[in-house]
Amino acid sequence: MQKSILEYNLMRKKVSNKNSFEIEAEEKLGRNDDCWCGSGKKYKKCHCSFDEKLDEYRHKCILVPPRRIIKNPVQVQGIRESAKINIEILNYIDEHIQAGISTQEIDNWVCTITKKYNAIAATLNYEGYPKSVCTSINNVVCHGIPSKNEILKDGDIVNVDVSTKYKGYFSDSSRMYCIGNVSAEKRRLVEITKQSLEIGLQYIQPWRKIGDMGAAIHEFAVQNGYSVVREIGGHGVGLEFHEDPWVSYVCQKDTGMLMVPGMVFTIEPMINMGKEDIYISDDDGWTVYTEDGLPSAQWEIQILVTEDGYEIISY
Ligand code: MF3
Ligand code: CO
Repeated sequence: MQKSILEYNLMRKKVSNKNSFEIEAEEKLGRNDDCWCGSGKKYKKCHCSFDEKLDEYRHKCILVPPRRIIKNPVQVQGIRESAKINIEILNYIDEHIQAGISTQEIDNWVCTITKKYNAIAATLNYEGYPKSVCTSINNVVCHGIPSKNEILKDGDIVNVDVSTKYKGYFSDSSRMYCIGNVSAEKRRLVEITKQSLEIGLQYIQPWRKIGDMGAAIHEFAVQNGYSVVREIGGHGVGLEFHEDPWVSYVCQKDTGMLMVPGMVFTIEPMINMGKEDIYISDDDGWTVYTEDGLPSAQWEIQILVTEDGYEIISY
């Protein structure tokens, strides 16, 4: 199965852009009705003033989130529980990853720990993806498929991307690992990519547009001599694996969806040492490579937008 970049892009964006119709259809509630968020509270004590505020933004033609991606406190707690497992898996990988192991071995660890908690690896069988984790080495940008024939070697940089479904709630985060003696050039790529998340986080504030965050990450990467992948980005996550909004890190500030309390999404820029261009493997239809063969790095963090900033859910 071969996917073109365009198809790929559409797959990741397929939940997008029905917002405006959907929001028009969202039911207007009476002040004493139960709130739409499922909190069990009366509307006037819950999302009533929130909706009024959202209306003001909408009337200024600003893209506002649909109700289905706003999480209530019970859902947020569910997502946190899922993320605890996700983080524990990554922590285990921190301790055990080393030169000489196969990427299949990493998949085995993920399977074992996920099972121990009665959770499910969210990638397994997702759109036909065959494994429980993505392992992306050097010039692989993302969605590398673990294999017993792929052995980590001294000097590799590898992204391990873990996503967990637990009691119906999704978590998703990834880390980079430097295997043994990694060149200063590659280490710097890994480090700058990590720092770009910290930069992006500074822009996560309610009632601010998400493009401010993406633009800041892009600017930082470019200042450091790198490029950022355009076609694949972050996403809302929590009640589904991939929800609105689609999150770009190649965008203008003051664009994109308004961030509001209760939104959960990932920040996961893919930063290339060379050019931004990528292609997808003809052989497996998943593995994404840099066109120029130079290394790429990615860290992924899952955040909740709160009343006064953000909470890190999974990292
Ligand atoms: N964790 C990846 C993401 O950021 C998973 C991609 S879907 C997969 O969404 F099937 F490739 F794993
Ligand atoms: Co993700």
